[in-house]
Amino acid sequence: MPSLNDIRSTFLGYFERNDHLIVPSAPLVPQNDPTLLFVNAGMVPFKNYFTGAESPPAPRAASSQKCVRAGGKHNDLDNVGYTARHHTFFEMLGNFSFGDYFKERAIELAWTLLTKEFQINPDRLTVTVYHTDDEAAGLWRRIAGLPDQRIIRIATSDNFWSMGDTGPCGPCSEIFFDHGEHIAGGPPGSPDEDGDRFVEIWNLVFMQYEQFADGRRVDLPKPSIDTGMGLERIAAVLQGVHDNYDVDLFRTLIEASRALTGSGSNGPSHRVIADHLRSSSFLIADGVSPSNEGRGYVLRRIMRRAMRHAHLLGAEEPLMHRLAPVLVQAMGEAYPELRRAEPVIVETLRQEEERFRRTLGRGMALLDEATASLPPGGVLPGDTAFKLYDTYGFPLDLTQDAVRAKGLTVDLQGFDAAMARQREQAREAWTGSGQQAQAAEWFAIRDRLGPTEFVGYEAVEATGELLALVVEGAEVDKAGKGQAVQAVFDRTPFYAESGGQAGDTGEVEWPGGRGRVADTQKQAGDLFVHHLEILEGELASGDRVHLMVDAERRMSTRANHSATHLLHAALRHVLGPHVSQKGQMVDGERIRFDFSHGQPLTGEEIARIEAEVNAVIRQNMPARTEEMAPQAAIEAGAMALFGEKYGDSVRVLTLGQALEGEGAYSVELCGGTHVARTGDIALFKIVSEGGVAAGVRRIEALTGEAARLWLQEQASVAKSLADQFKVPVGEVLGRVEALSAQARKLEKELADAKRQLAMGGGAGGGAPEIEEVGGVKLLARVMDGVGGKDLRPIAEEFKKQVADGVIALVGVAEGKAAVTVAVTGAAKERLNAAELAKAAVLAMGGQGAGGRPDFAQGGAPDGAKAAEGLAAVKAALAG
Ligand code: ALA
Repeated sequence: MPSLNDIRSTFLGYFERNDHLIVPSAPLVPQNDPTLLFVNAGMVPFKNYFTGAESPPAPRAASSQKCVRAGGKHNDLDNVGYTARHHTFFEMLGNFSFGDYFKERAIELAWTLLTKEFQINPDRLTVTVYHTDDEAAGLWRRIAGLPDQRIIRIATSDNFWSMGDTGPCGPCSEIFFDHGEHIAGGPPGSPDEDGDRFVEIWNLVFMQYEQFADGRRVDLPKPSIDTGMGLERIAAVLQGVHDNYDVDLFRTLIEASRALTGSGSNGPSHRVIADHLRSSSFLIADGVSPSNEGRGYVLRRIMRRAMRHAHLLGAEEPLMHRLAPVLVQAMGEAYPELRRAEPVIVETLRQEEERFRRTLGRGMALLDEATASLPPGGVLPGDTAFKLYDTYGFPLDLTQDAVRAKGLTVDLQGFDAAMARQREQAREAWTGSGQQAQAAEWFAIRDRLGPTEFVGYEAVEATGELLALVVEGAEVDKAGKGQAVQAVFDRTPFYAESGGQAGDTGEVEWPGGRGRVADTQKQAGDLFVHHLEILEGELASGDRVHLMVDAERRMSTRANHSATHLLHAALRHVLGPHVSQKGQMVDGERIRFDFSHGQPLTGEEIARIEAEVNAVIRQNMPARTEEMAPQAAIEAGAMALFGEKYGDSVRVLTLGQALEGEGAYSVELCGGTHVARTGDIALFKIVSEGGVAAGVRRIEALTGEAARLWLQEQASVAKSLADQFKVPVGEVLGRVEALSAQARKLEKELADAKRQLAMGGGAGGGAPEIEEVGGVKLLARVMDGVGGKDLRPIAEEFKKQVADGVIALVGVAEGKAAVTVAVTGAAKERLNAAELAKAAVLAMGGQGAGGRPDFAQGGAPDGAKAAEGLAAVKAALAG
């Protein structure tokens, strides 16, 4: 029986033999497509080839594409676990023709693969076509020899496929497999089509149109083919099972989940865990981190849904991260990015589960309480669902999933209303859609002009021609002195911000004019846009200009960027391979580097990191940059960023020599600008370390002259301290420690002395005077300079002298009064300390007092009235 991995290889091998270029799966986060949350079909990475915006590397291609359908147009999250075929993550096998073959060849290829290569009995296959598509119906009859009743015409959107609200689309033809009479259900289009007997295994889309946001649907330049076959479904067919979760890979994952939880449950939980483990791990490998917005929130929802099911199964320890290695073992060969990211996946899953478990139990208790009284079919109030969301971190769909088991639903309107109320309170600022409109403009300019040639790796000066000028979002022919413009030249030495390296600044000159470049940004992928202020003269399209980068700033930017690579490598050595880059910003001033790590760095770790980086700087080895194919680079051990899609060739930067063992110290894919030798960095110093989000730390660091100035400043502070103390710098710390120990000792002595003095009866000293008021022994005293905190031990001390009676003390410090009243012995039966203290406090203009019936304290604003406070106590006793 072929395994999932075998079937994937057979599919790709078949299309390779049929002249298709085999393309590796693109990352799950769509590149350059803001309209889509995740890649949700095999054709997504090829979208621009269908629309003609880009030319394809080959006319025919095939792939096995990672897809996530959670959030967005195609969302299967809610169903996963409860059905035989829903997944949040799946692999889509597909073959594609970009204006090459069309319906006939597509049908031929599909039919031959299924019936010859996979040897599926043709009698078990049925197809659908779009109701008006006579051509496709005729082809099925001729090529496959199918009778008319097994070529079913469907008029609904089921047979018209679109990627999203916009993008390529067209009518389609679906192939169904008949799992047999023992399963209820009818063929597509029949009244009982919703049964599970006939399962769609392959969708052939005849791509003909492009859908635009304004409702227009226009013809594609050439009719094309996009097909999609869920690997898990075809595996079920070829392995003779009906349920996708019974195919080999899922059995492995579910068995592991059973073993680790000790639960043999047959409910949805193990399936949810197996599915969500795949989507979470692949998303993390592609650079997504759990968070509270956007893609990160979808990931968090998936992870937490699985974690609740682990909890339901009785898992006592966080579970998901212990399952990750099983998945990597099963799928790492086909998807090497999974292997590379394994430490990051494990760490991210562990941290999220530990975090969620802190509130999960209490949230579940609240939920049980709230649902206990609801009848079957009842509705959970929206406010409760919102409280679970806001206080206990339960995503809405998790709550829905939880109440569903009890036959309940959630009041969504109520939830939305509660959310809206909170939003209003928080008054979040949202940026408009203006940015996107501008992006479209830049894409149009890019289509017309082609990419900018970047010559800045070799030079900081170059001559170029002005090709486009944009002022306030609109293209113009020319601009004059004082205007701020965005300028595109045919070539430029200015580096445009990318990969966390700031854009270059500098100057532009042309005959009769000059301007200052404040920033350089990339648009439409590879258009370098210079933010230019015209200082003199007029600038017009077609002008030849001389472009000059601020060379000094570029030099320190280079040093900072190269040092960041060294820092990345050192962090992994010192903290572990789970460290992965989460963001960086380097410019002419400093380095800011964000990375995944669960706890603050210790001083010792920071010192080791700095020592490593500086050791490699001192090696002063030449930095080596090579262009190579992405696969070769990764095989050579280059650290690649998770989820980046790289072009045909990438730049690989090698720095230094390993401090232990063989090989280079740092090898990374990077398009930035770098030093010629590591010694150019001169010096590296970490100046701060802190947390930016759960599980993400940030280091700020300096290099070269900036690092030297920083150290100099620190040294001069140390020097001033040393001068103050009149000791060498090396002894300052000892002096400060001795001084603070001395200060602590003096404070204690002072407090003791004050207490002694107070107990001794004020300046005069002597034994305390005890009077009798209303038949009660009373020791009442005003104590100058004693604060509330010090009154308690004094009162305790006095108790020895008043075995049965009342002690009332008013301490006066900094103009305020503090009252302490204690009642001892038999007097406790008649008197309440809190009431007596309150009487004193009120007499001194305060609000009240608190404590036990035998000991109470309070405070009042007016210390000058201390005597009146004691008088009030006496009056209360005199009754
Ligand atoms: N793009 C088509 C689908 O996802 C093949 O079904």
